[in-house]
Amino acid sequence: MPGVVNQPIQVLMKTKMQVAQISKAGGDFELVERDIPEPGPGQVRIKVEACGICHSDELVKEGLWPGLQYPRVPGHEIAGRLDALGAGVAAWKIGDRVGVGWHGGHDFVCEPCRRGDFTMCVNRKVTGIDYDGGYAEYVIVPAETLAAIPDQVPAEEAGPFMCAGVTVFNALRHSGARPGDVVAVQGIGGLGHLGIQYARKMGFQTIALGRGADKEALARELGAHHYIDSAALDTVAELQKFGGAQVILATAPNAAAISGVIGGLGIDGNLLIPAAPNDPLTVGVFPLLMGRRRISGWYSGTARDSQDTLEFSALSDVHPMIETFPLTRVAEAYEQMHSGKVRFRVVLTMGS
Ligand SMILES: NC(=O)c1ccc[n+]([C@@H]2O[C@H](COP(=O)([O-])OP(=O)(O)OC[C@H]3O[C@@H](n4cnc5c(N)ncnc54)[C@H](OP(=O)(O)O)[C@@H]3O)[C@@H](O)[C@H]2O)c1
Ligand SMILES: [Zn+2]
Repeated sequence: MPGVVNQPIQVLMKTKMQVAQISKAGGDFELVERDIPEPGPGQVRIKVEACGICHSDELVKEGLWPGLQYPRVPGHEIAGRLDALGAGVAAWKIGDRVGVGWHGGHDFVCEPCRRGDFTMCVNRKVTGIDYDGGYAEYVIVPAETLAAIPDQVPAEEAGPFMCAGVTVFNALRHSGARPGDVVAVQGIGGLGHLGIQYARKMGFQTIALGRGADKEALARELGAHHYIDSAALDTVAELQKFGGAQVILATAPNAAAISGVIGGLGIDGNLLIPAAPNDPLTVGVFPLLMGRRRISGWYSGTARDSQDTLEFSALSDVHPMIETFPLTRVAEAYEQMHSGKVRFRVVLTMGS
């Protein structure tokens, strides 16, 4: 065409990204610019849209994980879109909406994996601990960590399902409780507020255990049939009015509080603990053996468990209550989580 000159198309490719890293145990968050990394074989790159802040990110911040290498970018409640695929990744395509949780994949198939018990994989990696996590604009993860996010779940909600959600959903669905059974959820924070919703939607008679009267209305909004204020009432006696709980899901990271509710279990009851307090429990054996009660731990879940959590949540109208902060305000966001002031999950969002 006369007058039209073929100009070379100029594509401005972004090559740098912003991440929030911790450089030493007890150090502050540092916002730094890094090159956007390329995925290796079997890996993918995610353009992060949101990443929840979990209480367990304290392990990175305070150096509580043995052998942790710094600098490290925390974050294991990742939601975003696939942006680049490494060699050999066939099951996913660029643009897919994906989430990644605590379970960060593994190098080889060990005996628990062969049995299908991936959560207990002996060579599992932890996202945001063994490699950099989601407090970043981009993250590289092994493809086996990916869970597909249903269309109706926004990224800011999908993030918290990747750890807080899957941990309590998975714990409850394997707890042995059946519809109609009494299930108590202790602690109404990131994990607990989702635990209450799942317990209700799974058909359990749901009791929320909090401290203070101010959480009662919210606990009931989340689906609790009953609320016990442990600051004002004898929790054990109150639970025994219901015949004792079949399951107490302990999410409050406080060993004394967890130890104190064992007597609230019914016969064959299960004190199921996803919380990770630093102190040991103090347990009298007689209440256990007289009532054939047990204490068990629960550890997160796999990518498939995360996807089940997302799908159940979409199907059953379960939502995390969140407060969002841009990545640039990471220090303030972390402090909000740590202070316990947030109702109930802090989620970092990344600009475009
Ligand atoms: N097993 C796993 O795979 C897994 C996964 C994720 C997290 N975790 C662990 O689970 C725990 C909870 O994490 P999170 O993210 O939910 O923490 P969070 O948001 O800080 O919530 C903890 C809640 O526990 C309550 N609480 C604390 N002490 C209490 C007490 N003495 N009595 C009653 N309630 C008490 C707090 O209530 P107040 O508002 O009254 O302070 C708070 O709402 C942490 O230890 C975390 O490391 C484990
Ligand atoms: Zn977590």
